[in-house]
Amino acid sequence: MAASAKSKVRVPPAFVEPHAQAKCLSALHRQANSCERCELYKNATQTVFGEGHSGARVVLVGEQPGDREDIAGMPFVGPAGRLLDECLHEASIDRSLCYVTNAVKHFKFERRGKRRLHAKPNAGEIQRCAWWLGGEIDVVRPHLIVALGATALYALMGHSVGLTKERGQILATPNQVPLLVTVHPSYLLRIRNRNDRDSEHLKFVDDLRMISRYL
Ligand code: URA
Repeated sequence: MAASAKSKVRVPPAFVEPHAQAKCLSALHRQANSCERCELYKNATQTVFGEGHSGARVVLVGEQPGDREDIAGMPFVGPAGRLLDECLHEASIDRSLCYVTNAVKHFKFERRGKRRLHAKPNAGEIQRCAWWLGGEIDVVRPHLIVALGATALYALMGHSVGLTKERGQILATPNQVPLLVTVHPSYLLRIRNRNDRDSEHLKFVDDLRMISRYL
């Protein structure tokens, strides 16, 4: 798990850690807009909070907003979001029935000329931001949480679970909300070999099909 392998910090799950409290998602969102819990707010355009309604039965958790999301202020609207939409569609899952969010709410990047290149959030940043993720889960009270990739899994389960081993599985969690473990759509975008990409795409869609039982 890249986000945690080098770190000695133990990150307790967003489920059981103290987390943000609010009556509704919009109140939580307002609180998060002025978040300074780590340094990432300094360079990001804005907080990119989760999107969806509080009655959603499924919460999808990604890593962090990318360049497009940082500008738009909405999760999963860039290339990874388009691929996620395509795969959800193939799995017959309606994204609008899900609450879509990220483990980390600010875009972390490195500047290369005019470009802003994604940089991986570290353990401390993920831990700080679990404050909001825990709050979102508490308000939505989903029937299923989907961890899209290692950072989401780390935010939710700490060091206890590895992505490669548990991918495609539905795990029990401390607060009884089942957790589906799968890859992040960006992983598919990075695969160069076409056959490998196609087979990983199919595997991802198969994982997403499991969501339908909980909707
Ligand atoms: N990748 C993520 O993990 N989340 C987004 O919102 C966009 C890209």
